[in-house]
Amino acid sequence: MTRSAMTPHTDAFWMPFTPNRQFKAAPRLVASAEGIAYRTPAGREVLDGTSGLWCVGAGHRHPRIAQAMKRQIDTLDFASSFQVGHAGAFELAERIAALAPPGLDRVFLTNSGSEAVDTALKIALAHARACGQGQRSLFIGRERGFHGVGFGGISVGGMTHNRRAFGGAMLRVDHLGSTWDAATQAFVRGQPTTGAEKADELERLIALHDASNIAAVVVEPVAGSTGVLVPPQGYLQRLRDLCDRHHLLLIFDEVITGFGRLGAMFAAQALGVVPDMIVFAKTVSNGAAPLGGVIVRREIHDALMQGPAHLSELMHGYTCSGHPLACAAALAMLDVLDEEQLPQRVAAMAPRFEAIVHGLADAPGVVSVRNIGLAAGIELAPDAAGAGRRGARAQAAAFDRGVLTRAPGDTLILAPPFVATAGDIQRMADALRQAIEDTSSPAP
Ligand SMILES: Cc1ncc(COP(=O)(O)O)c(C=O)c1O
Repeated sequence: MTRSAMTPHTDAFWMPFTPNRQFKAAPRLVASAEGIAYRTPAGREVLDGTSGLWCVGAGHRHPRIAQAMKRQIDTLDFASSFQVGHAGAFELAERIAALAPPGLDRVFLTNSGSEAVDTALKIALAHARACGQGQRSLFIGRERGFHGVGFGGISVGGMTHNRRAFGGAMLRVDHLGSTWDAATQAFVRGQPTTGAEKADELERLIALHDASNIAAVVVEPVAGSTGVLVPPQGYLQRLRDLCDRHHLLLIFDEVITGFGRLGAMFAAQALGVVPDMIVFAKTVSNGAAPLGGVIVRREIHDALMQGPAHLSELMHGYTCSGHPLACAAALAMLDVLDEEQLPQRVAAMAPRFEAIVHGLADAPGVVSVRNIGLAAGIELAPDAAGAGRRGARAQAAAFDRGVLTRAPGDTLILAPPFVATAGDIQRMADALRQAIEDTSSPAP
């Protein structure tokens, strides 16, 4: 291990979504990874309780993906997808379309979830104009939703922290209330059986704004980044019914749920509700290369295929849309998902996972445990010092105890790779319990 890998200079890298001053005072570094675990520069194992950032479903450094990327870099390192093409991007789009719910079979590629969200919003706006309804410019999002960090995403998103610093430079939006109800959902296993009527708030927003002004409704099927809020049974179906009744587009942001996390390829299939666009990223390439995209209902795509034949039908795209390395990683990941039956493994493991995470309910200060598929949120009562302090302390303690978690606010996330065994998950939960106990008394 080189000296710089052991103790790099940390000043210049302005770390994303990180309390930089605190981190740099006591850096938590990883140096390598394999399967379900990282290793620190000193060689200590840290179990990956968050699949990286919800990305590494197949486990780190999957040989199939590594080999595909090595082959690709030696064959075609870069090709733009602007007015030239390479086979990888076309093949990937075909294969993703084949995995999506029927009717959604046109795929726009981006480099991240944020870009994919903004792409979906732009497609909705362009579609409205193409249909002679350019007045449709309002989006309906949901409180506590996270849709990345583009201006579109933070506008439809509903996490105040992510918009606080950026003022009013936003899209026109309104928001549904979140699906969360502490009184009835605190320790519910899987989908709550009550609360579907929360979707009816869409009716009120439609009455207020008028359907003719609304471009689309955008939700995560399961709100992940805010701490895993599981939709009540019937809730998403009600949103779909209302969108159908009022002729509104429904967009599912499946950046976290897409490609297996809920035990099916998409939440749309796991939860039985089909939107008009699916936004994806993260697991599609197992995190090995930056990649995201939008799967679009054929009619929406076709409505845009008009105008002079020499002009782009959608004035949108990124230099690295369809990047050969990202496509190679994703094609290999699709093989792995299929050959290793990873969504099926998630579905089979989910009841065991549920039992293990709910085993943390009696740890000190736990006020809620929520789960679906291989995703769970374990919420802690906040420190008297303020919301988020306990979560941050527990996250740091968990790293020291040998498991990587994330703490939006005071909720600890557990979202293991799909290849984790019940024993691996139990070790992760045991380390989380220790971290929760370590931080059970207030900070000095
Ligand atoms: C639901 C959802 N949408 C969008 C994003 C943004 O993705 P990215 O960080 O790749 O831009 C995230 C990231 O966590 C997410 O969870």
